Amino acid sequence: MSQSYYKKIVDSLQEAVENRSHPFKIFTLGTVGLDRMARLRTVVLRDITANQELVFYTDRRSKKVTHMKENNKVGMLFYDQENKIQLKAEGVASLIKDEDILAGLWKDIAEVNRKDYTTTTPPGSIVKHPDDVEYLKDKDYFTAVKVTLFKLEYLQLQPVNHIKIRYSKLEGNWVSEYLVP
Ligand SMILES: Cc1cc2nc3c(=O)[nH]c(=O)nc-3n(C[C@H](O)[C@H](O)[C@H](O)COP(=O)(O)O)c2cc1C
Repeated sequence: MSQSYYKKIVDSLQEAVENRSHPFKIFTLGTVGLDRMARLRTVVLRDITANQELVFYTDRRSKKVTHMKENNKVGMLFYDQENKIQLKAEGVASLIKDEDILAGLWKDIAEVNRKDYTTTTPPGSIVKHPDDVEYLKDKDYFTAVKVTLFKLEYLQLQPVNHIKIRYSKLEGNWVSEYLVP
């Protein structure tokens, strides 16, 4: 396996968790909606666990959560413009259910950011004006989603030979292949 690249990928994701300005901090999450349409949106990478599961936060009433309940396979797209690196990741998403873990994460979320999970009506609801959005005081819809990866595709554009590597999880082990870019 292309170990050095795999380590580089994991190291970059770990760095992105800690560094707000890392290009992998913000990524595109793809789910498949009920009508089998690809649905994309931007989310923030919050954690990478010891088992290399990726974690992001969301409102449990959001469309992405509805999609994930129908089809828990999700795609994620990261892009490092400076180094011309694209990382595509695929995995199985699940909501973190452990109340103690969620309470610990919630504790560390700044008051101003808690508003992202406390609107009185679900994300995507129609309002007359942006100022009309109201917030709950004693209830929230915060949740954290964990994605267990089963495929990674790394692409690095270079002046001469581009590098493309696919990592597939087979029976618990990552298997890698170089691909034509
Ligand atoms: C820079 C940026 C970061 C965002 N981060 C998150 C996030 O971490 N979690 C989240 O649920 N939505 C985040 N959003 C909002 C989503 O892109 C999206 O609009 C919202 O989650 C509703 O998506 P859905 O209806 O497809 O579920 C972010 C948006 C931007 C522009």
